[in-house]
Amino acid sequence: MHQTNTVPQTEWVEIGTVDAIPRRGARCINTPTGKIAVFRTQEDQIFAIENRCPHKNGPLSEGIVHGASVTCPLHNWVFDLQTGKALGADEGQVRTYPIDVIDGRIFIVPDLMMAAAE
Ligand code: FES
Repeated sequence: MHQTNTVPQTEWVEIGTVDAIPRRGARCINTPTGKIAVFRTQEDQIFAIENRCPHKNGPLSEGIVHGASVTCPLHNWVFDLQTGKALGADEGQVRTYPIDVIDGRIFIVPDLMMAAAE
């Protein structure tokens, strides 16, 4: 049976502070539907993507951040942190999550975390 919910609630949930993530680093947060990698770039931009590489499930939060991209620690696929798309010759996509930063505090939308279960 198909069920569609066309009016997602945008309820932001705080997941920590920018200062808690090192520049060009990441932290991994657990949700009921899987792990999300939250990255901080050298320029203090914050991005959130699914932590699982679509190639062979590499933990992207342990990858190397360069610019607004991350390189998977297992086989070096590169993902655009903004779009979640694999760059270069590789084809793949990871889920991205909207992020908001207010006074150094990071917020994410949990409804989309639930959608990640599909
Ligand atoms: S698991 Fe990420 S590149 Fe292979």
